[in-house]
Order: sequence, then C-alpha cells, then structure tokens
Amino acid sequence: MSQIPVDDPLFEEFRLSGLELENRVGLSPMTRISATETGRATDQMAEYYARFARGGFSLLITEGIYTDEAHSQGYADQPGLATDEQAASWEPVTDAVHEEGAPIIAQLMHAGPLVQGNRFVDRPIAPSEVPPKGEPLEAYGDSDEFVTPRAMTDEDVEDVIEGFVDAARRAEDAGFNGVEIHGANGYLLDSFLTEYTNDRDDEYGGSPESRVRFHVEVVEAVREAVSEEFVVGIRISQSKVNDPDYRWSGEEEAETVFGALSAAGVDYLHVTEAAITSPAFDSESGPTLSELAARYGDVPVIANGGLTDPELARDVLETGDADLLTLATGALANPDWPQRVAEGRELDAFDPEETLQPDASINEFELPE
Ligand SMILES: Cc1cc2nc3c(=O)[nH]c(=O)nc-3n(C[C@H](O)[C@H](O)[C@H](O)COP(=O)(O)O)c2cc1C
Repeated sequence: MSQIPVDDPLFEEFRLSGLELENRVGLSPMTRISATETGRATDQMAEYYARFARGGFSLLITEGIYTDEAHSQGYADQPGLATDEQAASWEPVTDAVHEEGAPIIAQLMHAGPLVQGNRFVDRPIAPSEVPPKGEPLEAYGDSDEFVTPRAMTDEDVEDVIEGFVDAARRAEDAGFNGVEIHGANGYLLDSFLTEYTNDRDDEYGGSPESRVRFHVEVVEAVREAVSEEFVVGIRISQSKVNDPDYRWSGEEEAETVFGALSAAGVDYLHVTEAAITSPAFDSESGPTLSELAARYGDVPVIANGGLTDPELARDVLETGDADLLTLATGALANPDWPQRVAEGRELDAFDPEETLQPDASINEFELPE
C-alpha cells in the first residue's frame, strides 16, 4: 500500500497464529445471501471478496457459512460448507483473495433458533423450546415470524459438533486459512450462552460455565480436526440480531466465557457490539467487551463495531484492548478503507438504503468495473 503513515497503529504488521498480516484492519463477516440456491459460492462472490483484499484489508472473514444439511442453514441463498461440492465452490474465492495477498477465514455458522430460510428441515433446534424474541430481518427473506425451536437432544449436540468439524475440514481443503466459529448474535452457540434461551438442567445449562460448555466443545473438536497452522477463532457478542440490548450478568460472566474459550484453544477472540468502544454492561462507565476479552483471555483480540472512524479505530488499538479490528458497514461503503486512510483520502458514509435494499444480496456496483 502506498503512503503508509509512519507510527500509525492501524498499519503495523501483526502475526496472528501463523498468518503474517500486513496491517490491523480486517473485514468483518457479512451475510450477503448471494450463493446459489444449493449453497454454492459464485464467481460474483469471488470478485466481491477479492475487492476488499485489493483495497488493503489484511484479513478477510467471510459471511456466516452453514455447516450441515440439517438445521444449520439460516437464510435462503446462504452459502454452505456442508458438502464437498459446496467446498469446491469456495476454491475460486480463496484463490482470488490469495492472489490479492490476503488470508481468508471462513465463518462457520449454525443458525439455531434464528432461521429464516432452511431447505432441509422445517423446525429449528435450540438449547430449549423458547420462541425467539423479535422479528425476522426483512432484508434476508420473506419469513413472517420465527418458528419456535425444539430443544436439542444429546444426539443433536453430537450432530452439530460433527457438522462444525466436517465443515472446518472442508474449509481447510478449500484453501481457507482458518475458520471463525460464530458464537455470537443469537445464533445457536450464543443461544446456549444466553440465560433466557437456555433452560436446560443438564451440563449445558445453568451457570455461565455450563452455558459456555457447548462453545468449548465445538472449539476443542474443531481444533483437533484441523492442522496446527490452520487458524481457529471465535466470535462473541452480548447483543443479538433479534435482541440488541441483551447484556451478560457482569464481569464474572465475562471472565468465565473468555477464560474458557481461550483455554479451549482458540487462536483469537473476535468481540462485537454495535459500539465496541462503549462500556460493556453499563451505559455510563466500566470496561468494554474487548477490554474484558483482553483481560481474561490469553489470545489476540479482534474488536468490531462502530469503528469506521479512523480515530476510534486507532484508539482501540492504542489502549491495548484489541490487537486487530474489523469493519463491516464501513467496508461496504469503502472497500478500500485501509488504502484510503493510509493515503489520507475521504471516506464515504454507509447508506443502508443503497446497499441492503431491496435485500442484502451483493449489488453490481459493489463489484470491480
Ligand atoms: C449486511 C450485514 C451482514 C452481516 N452478517 C454477519 C454475519 O454473517 N456474521 C456475523 O458475525 N456478523 C454479521 N454482521 C455483523 C457485522 O459483522 C458487524 O458486527 C456489524 O455490522 C457491526 O460492525 P460495523 O459497525 O463495522 O458495521 C453483518 C452485518 C451486516 C451489515
């Protein structure tokens, strides 16, 4: 990248596990429902992802990819890594991004209770039979309301873990540099962690330690199944797509969650909130979620949420609360955000009307001319 300002923390190199990252700015995962109906990645998606790498993002994390041919799919036209055919369809994507010099990580997602489109089964699964709060997202399909999930059996728990393991292996075969396990935003793993969606009285319910057990088991199983240099990260949030205001009980819960995930063998903790620079629990004061992840975890922290302004982005790195940051909406508006910032050029504002209407699929204007 040209004209890199000296002493700018955004443009320092970073070693993430075995990956040499050129700077501290990555692409946040974004579901774009632009795969084929059968969950295959397309040439358009390869062009879309390559553009961010060309624009200077040093690490790309894909949209949430479903893991099995059962309950994991959450949206129509979401891509999968549930079959070898789907895995093969990702090879042109990983090749195109690598040609631009950036690594790419596959976000593995099980929708759990928040299903808006699943071509395999009618009824979602979740830790307990609790109807999801809120409404389905309009930009992601036309479902009127969420279906109340059924509570998972022990066999379901095993099947889901196997799905993550097989999808991670396929991701490695397809040329990805790692996987990020989606443990955030109200989807399956997060619904185990969340008090009001988890009424279980077995080892997966009750205390924070029990509610994070499922995450830990998924991480351990995936870590064991892939090679040592393959990155395994996890994404964690308090807020959910269908409940932005949910908060954990406090710092002790954060200590348990981040401590357990770090001990389980993740290579990074990716924490996200609408405004990651705001206090985690209280609107007035107290630690941020990334500060807590850095305090109680023993691995690099990636911060996300509301960091499009380069000054805020620098602050997050300079406080030491995060090693890396990711951008979502700021990247959609500026697929060359790192380059623009390095060159002191102006940034465009994100316009949801323009990008995410009538639905969240990739627009022609997001592709190279
Ligand atoms: C169109 C869109 C799709 C998203 N899809 C995902 C997803 O698949 N997985 C995920 O973890 N977060 C997803 N998110 C959340 C973003 O990764 C990010 O956390 C959020 O937009 C806040 O970051 P920002 O302030 O940089 O936009 C999505 C956000 C947007 C705008």
